[in-house]
Amino acid sequence: MNEYDSSTMASLLSSQYQMVRSPEDADLIIVNTCSIRHKAEHKLYSLIGRFKGYKKKRPGLRIAVSGCVAQQEGERLFKRMPYLDLVFGPHRLPQLLQELEQGAENLLDTAMHEDFKIPSVYRKDGCPDPVRGFVTIMQGCNNFCTYCIVPYVRGREISRSAMDILHEIGDLVELGVRDITLLGQNVNSYGKGAGDVVGFAQLLRMIDKEYPGIRLRFTTSHPKDISREVMECFGSLDTLCEHLHLPVQAGSNKVLKRMNRHYTREDYLEKVHFLRQVSPEIALTTDLICGFPGETHKDFLDTLSLVEEVRYHQAFAFKYSPRPGTAAARFACQVDDGTKSQRLTLLLGLLNRIGFQEMRNLEGTVQEVLVERVHSGQPGMLQGRTRGNHVVNFPGVPEMVGSFLDVEIVRACNHSLVGRLSEAVDPAREMRGKMAGQSVLKEDVSYEDSSNVCACDNP
Ligand code: 5AD
Ligand code: SF4
Repeated sequence: MNEYDSSTMASLLSSQYQMVRSPEDADLIIVNTCSIRHKAEHKLYSLIGRFKGYKKKRPGLRIAVSGCVAQQEGERLFKRMPYLDLVFGPHRLPQLLQELEQGAENLLDTAMHEDFKIPSVYRKDGCPDPVRGFVTIMQGCNNFCTYCIVPYVRGREISRSAMDILHEIGDLVELGVRDITLLGQNVNSYGKGAGDVVGFAQLLRMIDKEYPGIRLRFTTSHPKDISREVMECFGSLDTLCEHLHLPVQAGSNKVLKRMNRHYTREDYLEKVHFLRQVSPEIALTTDLICGFPGETHKDFLDTLSLVEEVRYHQAFAFKYSPRPGTAAARFACQVDDGTKSQRLTLLLGLLNRIGFQEMRNLEGTVQEVLVERVHSGQPGMLQGRTRGNHVVNFPGVPEMVGSFLDVEIVRACNHSLVGRLSEAVDPAREMRGKMAGQSVLKEDVSYEDSSNVCACDNP
């Protein structure tokens, strides 16, 4: 989401500013922040400390802070770092820069306005990734999970109109983007305040009909809100990839209740069961928190057993981090850091073991891979993604970037797969990619025995 916001800012500024490669050469540095956990927030302070030094060499340099830490800290950031020029929320960026140029100092604009609309983004000039694109469909959150700062910094749920979303997808498709992820803090609430009343399942169907040649994904889904209608889309829409990120957070009903999640372990498992009925190949991923206040060893064991039951392909696991102003930060019986670390290590061990087994189950299968890039570290190798969102490295030629290819999986690594091109490129698939009209056959690619080549980032 932050990457998307950053690229939106870049596109809003593209008529006045040009991107530079290094912050040392910049006239304007915007640090777009996240405050979801303390570690993310901490990064801001160390980065800005570095950028402060550049001001001496480049007196005209402006430094701005945007995003969730700006919303959360506001005025306090100027007290801590008086050399900051601008602290702002997600709105009004070009106007604010104009005010700076006219001499304003220490400019603060973090108020959340009732009538705020998610801006339309003009993507025709280009997007940061030529193959994968992100499109915001809603922002904010009404859920108030007790550990989470998002509702305080991002405000209430608000959706974009379906027409606006379809236009942005159209721009991306014209640029060659083929894998589109719809973004929102809780995409299942899509439709609130959008003007034209379309629910999330209906939005998915509209996109599928309008752009049948793409891959579609979405994140994030709250398990309590994902409806049967949306889950059925995994079985009925060709564009919707067999991958769902469904953050469970914990496996103990007691903890889930204290987190204010509004579902039980049993509700969650029932949804997983239904999803696998409509889409047997679906790869599930999740987020987990360990050491939430009051979490006992038995509660933690419930999380481990849930992970064993669901068998996630990938997961993000975090130590609970108290966030200022949230309910859980005030709960008694905070878990000590040593216990949190121990639990995290155990949890990551289990997740890695299961994730690797799931990857190994793909060995010998042929997967449709959308080629994203030439591998940065391995000459002659390409990197792409399956519909299940697994990263695949395989030998190929740069002209294949942007096309859909059949790849046989020869080996699983911890976080990626190694493959080789399957017999011949399926002409129907080829039409869906960038390479329509050209024929690239397996024979065009010279490769060593790829089963010996491990090109994953984390072998
Ligand atoms: N501490 C630890 N993890 C958190 N997350 C959100 N808030 C916190 C917190 N205070 C995690 C949740 C969420 C993911 C984006 O970040 O697992 O799904
Ligand atoms: Fe935070 Fe997600 Fe809960 Fe909203 S639904 S409060 S964004 S964890």
